[in-house]
Amino acid sequence: MGKIIAVANQKGGVGKTTTAINLAASLAALEYRTLLVDADPQANATSGLGFDPASITTSIYECMVEDVKIQDIVLNSPNVEFLDLIPSHIDLVGAEVEMINVPNREEKMREALAPIKDVYDFIIIDCSPSLGLITVNSLTAADSVVIPVQCEYFALEGLGKLLNTIKIIQSRLNPELSIEGILLTMYDVRLRLSNQVVEEVKTHFQQMVFDTIIPRNVKLSESPSFGIPAILHDAESKGAMSYLNLAREIAEKNSVALAK
Ligand SMILES: Nc1ncnc2c1ncn2[C@@H]1O[C@H](COP(=O)(O)OP(=O)(O)OP(=O)(O)O)[C@@H](O)[C@H]1O
Ligand SMILES: [Mg+2]
Repeated sequence: MGKIIAVANQKGGVGKTTTAINLAASLAALEYRTLLVDADPQANATSGLGFDPASITTSIYECMVEDVKIQDIVLNSPNVEFLDLIPSHIDLVGAEVEMINVPNREEKMREALAPIKDVYDFIIIDCSPSLGLITVNSLTAADSVVIPVQCEYFALEGLGKLLNTIKIIQSRLNPELSIEGILLTMYDVRLRLSNQVVEEVKTHFQQMVFDTIIPRNVKLSESPSFGIPAILHDAESKGAMSYLNLAREIAEKNSVALAK
């Protein structure tokens, strides 16, 4: 059974896309069949894997509201074996408005992903910085959610609202949704502030916090401009290695046998 993991936080720029791309690529590097779903009209995960969003005509949106089959729009990563992508494009912006009168509008992504769920070991959804209908769809389709939290001022800002949204989705739409973990990102060992945020988040959320902490690392910010995940840009970098550790932590937690 494929596991669907949404990477979500309505706060912008906390490392959702960086996490989605590099977690997906690391799971693929461990030879898990992995699908990355770009559920953000910014299409950063699409370009980060080397595809030009301007050339994309069909996205997850067309599978949600039109009768496009998801199998027909899967793109194979040109340079990472075991990794596929469902791309996004800017039209996803209109989806929220257009879907308002669609029956069961919160469940369209779950329905769209159903035919391919078991083709993959992991499906990672990169959410947009909003708690709108597409994100609600992502959380309704997901088995669990990874919440990136940036080691910065106001790190916990908005987290209550996100956790509340998750609770509402659990009670109304998706009782199986669990929190995979809170992921501390952009950690800078030299900054007292970074260390304070780690302490604060661990005190608040204890065992919900992943052991793996993602450092601030230039290889992670550079690699999207080359259209490749960090593991291909510089496999030895701290950033690439941390996401590989996160992938191992998640695989172990889900008791999926590790790389053969
Ligand atoms: N660990 C890191 N080290 C260095 N730079 C990082 C790291 N994580 C993310 N960044 C950079 O920070 C910026 C925001 O990251 P990212 O796009 O992953 O966040 P996001 O939460 O997806 O943003 P949005 O809310 O707009 O979708 C990007 O420029 C990215 O390259
Ligand atoms: Mg993003």
